Amino acid sequence: MTEATRRDFIKQAAAGTAAFLAYPTARVLGANDRVRVAIVGAGSRGQDLLRQALEVPSLQVVAAADIYARRFDEARKIVPGIETFSDYRRVLDRKDIDGIMVASPLHLHARHFLDTLAAGKDLYSEKTLTWSIPEAEQCFAASKQSDRVIQIGLQHESEGPLADTKKWIANGMVGKVTQVESWMSRNSPHGKGQWVRPVPSDCTAQNVDWKAFVNGRPETPFDPYKFLNWRLYWMFSGGNVTENMVHQIAWIMSALDLPLPAAAFMSGGVFSEKDGREVPDTIAVTLDFPNDIVVTWQSTFSNRRYGLGQRILGSEGTIEYVATANDMVTGKSQESIRYYPEEINRSNGVAVTGESPSQNHLANWIECMGSRKAPNAPVELGYRSAVAAHMCNISYRQKRRITLEEAKVALPEF
Ligand SMILES: NC(=O)c1ccc[n+]([C@@H]2O[C@H](COP(=O)([O-])OP(=O)(O)OC[C@H]3O[C@@H](n4cnc5c(N)ncnc54)[C@H](O)[C@@H]3O)[C@@H](O)[C@H]2O)c1
Repeated sequence: MTEATRRDFIKQAAAGTAAFLAYPTARVLGANDRVRVAIVGAGSRGQDLLRQALEVPSLQVVAAADIYARRFDEARKIVPGIETFSDYRRVLDRKDIDGIMVASPLHLHARHFLDTLAAGKDLYSEKTLTWSIPEAEQCFAASKQSDRVIQIGLQHESEGPLADTKKWIANGMVGKVTQVESWMSRNSPHGKGQWVRPVPSDCTAQNVDWKAFVNGRPETPFDPYKFLNWRLYWMFSGGNVTENMVHQIAWIMSALDLPLPAAAFMSGGVFSEKDGREVPDTIAVTLDFPNDIVVTWQSTFSNRRYGLGQRILGSEGTIEYVATANDMVTGKSQESIRYYPEEINRSNGVAVTGESPSQNHLANWIECMGSRKAPNAPVELGYRSAVAAHMCNISYRQKRRITLEEAKVALPEF
């Protein structure tokens, strides 16, 4: 793609969005009303959200929009009677729907975000906020002009370990922090690539609206493998930094109240998953923050011994969050949050295990739809964590350290 075409593409990427200040369809919710919500993108994560929604009594999921026919049956198995639509705009037109949960692939987030706000609906949007920095700027700007309640699907913002961490830092138990180390590791059986999904026989051009999926990207013939495995390709994905690092970097930014990074460096490559994918499976990231803090993140797909974790290294103590053997995404792991004093400076300090309760992130969004308060993972955090993740990818692809200023003017690459 030429530079001029890429510039045009960026301008058009999230086009189709009208006035943000008009809220044509917002219902006024009474104290006993159940909030009526629709899902856009009822794939793997969308179906997780449907199951989670069943546990929130004040929430009723009434509709699902998707472009792959198979998803309608899958959604109906979870929510019998759910209405289904093959064009998400028909759901946005509905006056009896209060909120939209977006769980579409990354490259569609900006469009679904902007159109949801323009339609006057509250929004739960899966991470990462957007596929590119210009789209993140657009969505953040739109949110500032809107009074809609927007929760980003960074669910660890609602969990106990972050509350414990914030409490310990505020109490002075951690002291001056100049470094945070974090990691995320996975493995898969021989012959099975990490993230790879097999193509079912019903994944055909007749059953998938490929044009709606590619969303203005250069015309390519229907490719069922890419449609299902969009995570592996830059055209649709940001790879593991937008799939997983973003959860951890948002958590660290939130814990330490960090601004946008000043610079990023990312190295690595496609070293273990040699299946034609474009996004790296082995990654080492360094993020420099303006207030004298360096955050590192490393990731592999061929060893899971150390699971996933974050260590905040302070002059008075260390906070260690560890989720063993699995990941923050499925939640199927032994997690722990612990504090250890630095004896050299806090000889009378004691080690502590966190015990703050976790909140249901979806329920927090629904509560905020009633109270009109800001939810636990606001757009601003989605924006900061998205920019950090994209800075890493830009550095990786340009094979050099990249500053925030350089990243903001870099053209997104397919
Ligand atoms: N918060 C978390 O822990 C978490 C976990 C997993 C995934 N996610 C995020 O959820 C999102 C979806 O991931 P996934 O694994 O479910 O992907 P998926 O491919 O399984 O599901 C995406 C769905 O969107 C549909 N879709 C594609 N184009 C569409 C369009 N134009 N309109 C409506 N629907 C469309 C697809 O048909 C598919 O059913 C990603 O952004 C991912 O990062 C978040």
